Amino acid sequence: MFDFEFHNPTKIIFGRDRFACLDQLVPASSKVLLTYGGESARKYGTLDKTRAALKNRTILEFGGIEPNPHFETLMKAVEMVRAEKISFLLAVGGGSVIDGTKFISLFSPYAGDPFSLLVRRSIGTDLADKAIPFGAVSTLPATGSEMNNRGVISHGQGKYPFLSPLSFPLFSLVDPSLTFTLPPAQVANGVVDAFVHTTEQYLTFPVDGRLQDRIAEGILLTLLEIGETTLSEPDNYPARANLCWCATMALNGLTGAGVPQDWATHMIGHELTALFGIDHGQSLAVILPALLEARREKKRDKLLQYAGRVWDIRQGGEDERISASISRTREFFERLGVRTRLSAYGVGAGDIPAIVDNLRAHGRTALSERGDLTLEISRSILESAL
Ligand code: NZQ
Ligand code: ZN
Repeated sequence: MFDFEFHNPTKIIFGRDRFACLDQLVPASSKVLLTYGGESARKYGTLDKTRAALKNRTILEFGGIEPNPHFETLMKAVEMVRAEKISFLLAVGGGSVIDGTKFISLFSPYAGDPFSLLVRRSIGTDLADKAIPFGAVSTLPATGSEMNNRGVISHGQGKYPFLSPLSFPLFSLVDPSLTFTLPPAQVANGVVDAFVHTTEQYLTFPVDGRLQDRIAEGILLTLLEIGETTLSEPDNYPARANLCWCATMALNGLTGAGVPQDWATHMIGHELTALFGIDHGQSLAVILPALLEARREKKRDKLLQYAGRVWDIRQGGEDERISASISRTREFFERLGVRTRLSAYGVGAGDIPAIVDNLRAHGRTALSERGDLTLEISRSILESAL
């Protein structure tokens, strides 16, 4: 097992109707900015419940944070925070709203050029030493943003991931019943995102991280058990609660502690979102099966473990078992209604050079757990994903 440091200060309040907790969690003297997305938080009453719980505090609102949140939109919120001297941010929404709020929190007190800071990716306290405290009311189980210190911000034709020790939410309310209103496609995206966060930290090479492997397998098996149920029975609380906790646990630092991490599926996927507007979860469903096929030798030991322990594939030769595990993964995504071929999203062979150019422009030229996934390999993964 590799050496590691694990620190996660985010408090999770999990369960139905826990809004009353907000009164204790948000300092009484705060001037609060509620951040939200398009219309879901208002339409389904989550914004009203949040406001009511915050009682007599001064509350302002900033809505309109779009999926794959845009730098320009968020800079408007930064201006508002500065002008209004906001002292607490509360995100009400999915990963995009929470990521956007992390950006607002970190960039509002920052005096330098924000885009130059964003492209640094890892924003330590030597680069930015202050952030506005923030919490979240999570309405979409997928990204794990409610319990991690990462965000992804869109700028021009790129998606820029960042992380910072200053970007953990102070707390997150995870109420599975708030997610009952999600459109089926977003629920399916969420299952895929949580699944692929887990495989990015599990399907690498063995380092005898036995507990980490079993946590990862536990998340994957749970997603396989409840994925289709939570899609077909949107208000089945136990199934949705399991999805929510899997999504949170899949990217809160625990699964990845002390083990190699890949993230190539995400990095290639981000270019698909940036160029063609393909949803984040959909982009992962397209890339993962193609990437596992291309990297089957590099990932051989873990793919065999995955085939046996996750899919219960124990008969046949090694290659046969690996092939079957990749096919079963693809079939699972398709059963959720998430298409796994580029052509299903209108992307053809003629689009691949632009994707590869973007990967090059964003420095994504040596991806994977070994740093040996070149642009040429990315190109062949994209070709096989057509
Ligand atoms: O904008 P509104 O009207 O609120 O609608 C949203 C949005 O259209 C809707 N929605 C959210 N909660 C709802 C709801 N609709 C009905 N009922 C509810 N309860 O869902 C749509 C998608 O929301 P979005 O926040 O964009 O989805 P998601 O949570 O999947 O977030 C995706 C973003 O997170 C980034 C992605 O790159 C993408 O930008 N990621 C963030 C990560 C992190 N912070 O660690 C890691 C991930 O790998 C990912 O990259
Ligand atoms: Zn993701």
